[in-house]
Amino acid sequence: MKLIARGAEAVIMLDEGEIIKKRIKKNYRIPLIDLKLRKKRTKREARLLSIARQHGIPTPFVRDVIPEEFTIRISYIEGETLRDIVEKLKNIKEIFHEVGNLAGKMHSGNVIHGDLTTSNMILSKGRIYLIDFGLGEINESIEAKGTDILVFKKSVRSTHFEHEEEIFDAFFRGYLESFPSGSKVIERLKLMERRGRYFSER
Ligand SMILES: Nc1ncnc2c1ncn2[C@@H]1O[C@H](COP(=O)(O)OP(=O)(O)OP(=O)(O)O)[C@@H](O)[C@H]1O
Ligand SMILES: [Mg+2]
Repeated sequence: MKLIARGAEAVIMLDEGEIIKKRIKKNYRIPLIDLKLRKKRTKREARLLSIARQHGIPTPFVRDVIPEEFTIRISYIEGETLRDIVEKLKNIKEIFHEVGNLAGKMHSGNVIHGDLTTSNMILSKGRIYLIDFGLGEINESIEAKGTDILVFKKSVRSTHFEHEEEIFDAFFRGYLESFPSGSKVIERLKLMERRGRYFSER
């Protein structure tokens, strides 16, 4: 077993060609709440990875779930996270058009990712896989979808600011293609951003 990443929430290990994701204890949480939260997110992630896949989103296959051990076993996606390769991508527009397409597909199925950042997207053999659904949910509301995209926008703004404009442009084109009524989500998003600015200025 080999440790391949240590995220904010979990350790990621490679075991016999598959990924084991184990959610680790957070000492700032009350112990009982910590246990409940880790168990809940473990189950939630396994469920949403499968649901997203049923909607045509590339995600790792879920091989096993052990809620009592806060562990899921999922297939290993060979490749690199978009976060690590954005700067060297030659087809940045094409890639984020596809990311938008996936987000739209997800939202048209009422799947909310919950942490839509480029470190949760892996480019593998020309396909983009979405991972890390532990904060996701099924929610049909426009607000939830808007919030999902707001997280994406904020993360792009802070990590890939040189490419911000072309990324957003391509993303929203892709989003609307696979989710035409996503225009309502984008309207709401604009409102949320104005609201955010208004509040952060005081
Ligand atoms: N199925 C997988 N195949 C390949 N690499 C993976 C897989 N799952 C996770 N990783 C790697 O491990 C990293 C952390 O995984 P993940 O995002 O699921 O955990 P996390 O603890 O929630 O992380 P963070 O809090 O940093 O978002 C990913 O960014 C990716 O590099
Ligand atoms: Mg992550």
